[in-house]
Amino acid sequence: MAAKKQNKSSRKSWGHRLTAEADAATAELLASLDVDVALWKYDIAGSLAHAQMLSEQGILKKKEFTAIKRGLASVAEDIEAGTLDMPLALEDIHMVIETALTDRTGEVGRKLHTGRSRNDQITLDLRMWARDAAETLAQHIAELQRAFVELAERDGKTVVPAYTHLQRAQPIVAGQAMLAYVEMLQRDADRLADCRKRINVCPLGSGAVAGTSIPLDRARTAELLGFPKYSRNSIDATSDRDFLAELCFCCATLGMHLSRWCEDWIIYASSEFGLLELHDAYCTSSSMMPQKRNADTLELIRGRSANALAQLVGILTLLKGLPLAYNRDLQDDKRFAFEAVEGIRQAIAVAPGIVRAATLRQPDLTSGYLDATSLAEYLVNKGVPFRTAHGIVGTIVAEAERRDLPLSDLSLDDLQAHSDAIEADVATYLTAENVVKRYAPDGAAGAKQLTKQLRFWKRTLA
Ligand code: ARG
Repeated sequence: MAAKKQNKSSRKSWGHRLTAEADAATAELLASLDVDVALWKYDIAGSLAHAQMLSEQGILKKKEFTAIKRGLASVAEDIEAGTLDMPLALEDIHMVIETALTDRTGEVGRKLHTGRSRNDQITLDLRMWARDAAETLAQHIAELQRAFVELAERDGKTVVPAYTHLQRAQPIVAGQAMLAYVEMLQRDADRLADCRKRINVCPLGSGAVAGTSIPLDRARTAELLGFPKYSRNSIDATSDRDFLAELCFCCATLGMHLSRWCEDWIIYASSEFGLLELHDAYCTSSSMMPQKRNADTLELIRGRSANALAQLVGILTLLKGLPLAYNRDLQDDKRFAFEAVEGIRQAIAVAPGIVRAATLRQPDLTSGYLDATSLAEYLVNKGVPFRTAHGIVGTIVAEAERRDLPLSDLSLDDLQAHSDAIEADVATYLTAENVVKRYAPDGAAGAKQLTKQLRFWKRTLA
């Protein structure tokens, strides 16, 4: 009785089984429309492919398929224009689209859901969305890598300190630090590409949990939707969200890398470090202190990574207690995945501009004894065991520090007082500039290694 009373736009597909209507608060909880409306294009593409397969299998008549195709196109037009009525009572985008289709095509629209459930439909939509999201993020990553490579080509030969424990360690060409981020980003891109393989499996045909007695051609639907394969197991296919959790992990890791870069650059751009100047376009000032130039964009990117990490924890928590197979908890998976991807997308979209517009400053290299390790290696070349050399140089540094001098300002006599292995040629091992010229192995922080890495990245990112 109650089902009959439902008006056209809010009627439920299960209106014959359940007679009570949800009250407003319950309807709000049940609905995911505010979030899954973002999937409408994928939902229509999936329905179209399903209907085409049904017609090729003789399950739908040609005429019926044509009517469905036209109907879906007109629904799509209205959604695009923002004119489609989307009552919350319909719960999700699948029901909104199917209801609109049926309103337009009559009986025929009621055949679309043959051999399908919203359980395989939603994971299909999500897989198509996730496939595109992975692609979009990969493009942003490549763009940021290119920006770092350009900066490294422009300013990368400048000699700067490398830090460990945020204390001056050894001199490097600055490009080595810039290309370190490119390496991290490459792993992020590789992870996304790998994740995409597991996303790219068509679940359609799995139905609600057990498949269907309708003779579907699963290979055909998969082919029509650009999936290289379809799922093996209907229970797994309808309840698996590993691919979303993985995508969230990719976002969290990418976010963590972006955050580390921002942290570095916020420090480098401070007056205390003075290594880097950010372009005005990416800074803000203070409402009170007129001199301020704050790296707010970097701080927001750093902060955004917390969001991606939170979404990863959220989706794993959502999944961990679910019995087989589909449970309604899964409706909320989208909130986590959409938020993780969109948050990181916004952050990484800004990053290449920041990198390209940054200016490197030549820092003072005479403090911090950046050449101490090189002096120890000089002694090694003269036959002194490394541990002994390390001790000798430690004593020399302590003396130089007492006299407030860099190692290169100590006289040959001063040095020789600590080791008779030291000769005049020691000068070519001292000063940061000389040290960088001596870096020998592949992957070290010298100019010739930088040239080789740049050649690799330009080829890889072309
Ligand atoms: N809107 C649901 C989701 O996002 C799909 C519908 C499945 N609902 C159901 N009661 N089986 O997961």
